[in-house]
Amino acid sequence: MPCKGDPNAIDALRKLKRVSMAHLPTPVEPLDRLSAALGGPRIWMKRDDCTGLATGGNKTRKIEFLMADAVAKGADTVVTVGAIQSNHARQVAAASARLGLRCVLGLLDAVPDRSQVYRLLGNVFLDKLFDAEIRISPDLEDTEPLLDSIADELSRQGRQPYVIPLGGSNGLGAAAYAEAFLELLAQFEALQEPLNAIVVPIVSGGTLAGLLLGASLSGWRGTMIGISASDKAERAIQRVRVPQLAAAEILGASDEIIGQPPIVIDDRFVGKGYGIPTPECVQAIELLARKEGLLLDPVYTGKAMAGLLTLIRENYFQADVNNLLFWHTGGSVALHAYPEIAVDFEKRTSRRET
Ligand SMILES: Cc1ncc(COP(=O)(O)O)c(C=O)c1O
Repeated sequence: MPCKGDPNAIDALRKLKRVSMAHLPTPVEPLDRLSAALGGPRIWMKRDDCTGLATGGNKTRKIEFLMADAVAKGADTVVTVGAIQSNHARQVAAASARLGLRCVLGLLDAVPDRSQVYRLLGNVFLDKLFDAEIRISPDLEDTEPLLDSIADELSRQGRQPYVIPLGGSNGLGAAAYAEAFLELLAQFEALQEPLNAIVVPIVSGGTLAGLLLGASLSGWRGTMIGISASDKAERAIQRVRVPQLAAAEILGASDEIIGQPPIVIDDRFVGKGYGIPTPECVQAIELLARKEGLLLDPVYTGKAMAGLLTLIRENYFQADVNNLLFWHTGGSVALHAYPEIAVDFEKRTSRRET
């Protein structure tokens, strides 16, 4: 079936206001040693861990659009939420510092049994370096009331708050990833390689939502899979659908193209829960470090890579999938907040050496 896409919506996307902060385009790299070890399709990586802002990551793209909106609305303070080791919070804090805005972070104590290091180093230390004001909160399923109460309090103090939802996953955040998809497509066109399948981690949903929308707008036909690092598939699908539809509305995208490609989530790699690394996640981190000199993270990309490795071993991808892309969304700062991974690694490798 010929794929039409939606050139008008792509025009609208290109006209959205943004504050330039990311180092773009991020590189696309083949992982040939990993591909050879697995014997499946050729694996590529989109290096959104290299977006440049405060060690990079997927939130920088979303923040470019969200901060432009904050500035246009006359905000003097940016408010957002995330886990104590949120990469999103760290990048919002850095972007706020760069724009001379105040930043208030509601950080959820969402991961049980964490060490003192988890509460002190990694992202949360960087938040403080970027001069963000931090409010620690118990974990919440719905973070909107917390955001509203912080914003109300700031308004009562005469400040002009701009609220960014969890993970920056609203219409503007997803629009940023629709544009990222177009960037990737152009890179594969320049490489004269087909792009057959994409694997990406998903938690708050905006990244996958935007990639799917970008795929619909361009008429791309391929396989896209979100590996959940938090929710069961049904909930994850809802999380993706909301920003996907919101972004489609902002861009005036035609209804009939949304939903193609469909939202596909694999939730087998979450383990005991968000922020709790699984043995497969740690193995994936070690494999990518050894084979490719690349850093994954213990919360998102380690689990997503564990998913990709399993899907290849299960022969999930059809024989006509030649090029499979892993979307690296960043997050390796959090490696330094999980001392138990280092302790376990030390034990295992010192045993191997003796
Ligand atoms: C490093 C990293 N990867 C992936 C994700 C997931 O992206 P999204 O929340 O847009 O689903 C996040 C944030 O939640 C993240 O910080």
